[in-house]
Amino acid sequence: MPQARPLAGRRQEVAALREHLTPDSPYRAVVLLGDAGVGKSRLVTEIATLDEFLIFVGWCLPRSEGLPFLPVVDLLRGIQRYEPALSARSLAASPPYVAAELRRVLPELAEAPDDIGTPPHEPWMRTRLFDALAQFFANLVTPRPIVLALEDIHWADSTTLEFLDYLLSPGRGLPEKLLLTYRSGEAHRADVEDWLDRLRRLNDVRLMELAPLTDPKRPNRSRACSVTRSHPSWPTRSSIGQKATPSSPTSSSPPLGSSPPTAGPSRHCHPV
Ligand SMILES: Nc1ncnc2c1ncn2[C@@H]1O[C@H](COP(=O)(O)OP(=O)(O)OP(=O)(O)O)[C@@H](O)[C@H]1O
Ligand SMILES: [Mg+2]
Repeated sequence: MPQARPLAGRRQEVAALREHLTPDSPYRAVVLLGDAGVGKSRLVTEIATLDEFLIFVGWCLPRSEGLPFLPVVDLLRGIQRYEPALSARSLAASPPYVAAELRRVLPELAEAPDDIGTPPHEPWMRTRLFDALAQFFANLVTPRPIVLALEDIHWADSTTLEFLDYLLSPGRGLPEKLLLTYRSGEAHRADVEDWLDRLRRLNDVRLMELAPLTDPKRPNRSRACSVTRSHPSWPTRSSIGQKATPSSPTSSSPPLGSSPPTAGPSRHCHPV
């Protein structure tokens, strides 16, 4: 999908991301870190528009710690919606309990109300759900490498963080690469900050700190900042979780990588 503004700079970052997200890379996850408006989401969009990867995205929302698993559900919903054949092949290659677990988090897949199942309250049920989703991801087979992107992970609920820990645990061997964005200094929750510290210690997770873009003509003015309450291209909740690829059949969908709607004003800094 064409971007409203061409990408300014960031050639090194794009090259590094392309390298880290290829299946041969030693990294299992890349975390883009940086201040609000520095261009984390814009880079996710850029990677999607390269048409080199098949990217699915889920977004965390402010105060979404009370909405367990929201970004993962959005991401799964995007796979179902935009690549139903891919999803069906994965389920056919998986044991039957994988489809049953998927119906717990995507009740729209159930053919009858009895089929939905209850949310996994017990810890062992959560383990089974995580295991089923990992199998589902492992059996997604496409010619293009798949990237699973979760945006604004500084707002993630604890179940999402547990799931990411599970996927990144030793020996898990997920074929997809994870691409996470994290706004520096925004977590305000010790568990999220501890989680990021743990990630920093993993050799197979690459943290990329994004510095603000600088204008070579005006080195003291690296960017212009504005405070906006809404953005015309922000996706609606119904479009969240879309496949992030320019060849997506959803050409009318809002651009991938746009920020989700926020409850209050948010700060956006535009490179100048
Ligand atoms: N390299 C770039 N070239 C052109 N536009 C850019 C670039 N980086 C960012 N922008 C624009 O600046 C705005 C803010 O960028 P973006 O939403 O990617 O920031 P962010 O780091 O994801 O911020 P947040 O933490 O709020 O999610 C967007 O309108 C985006 O398109
Ligand atoms: Mg963003």
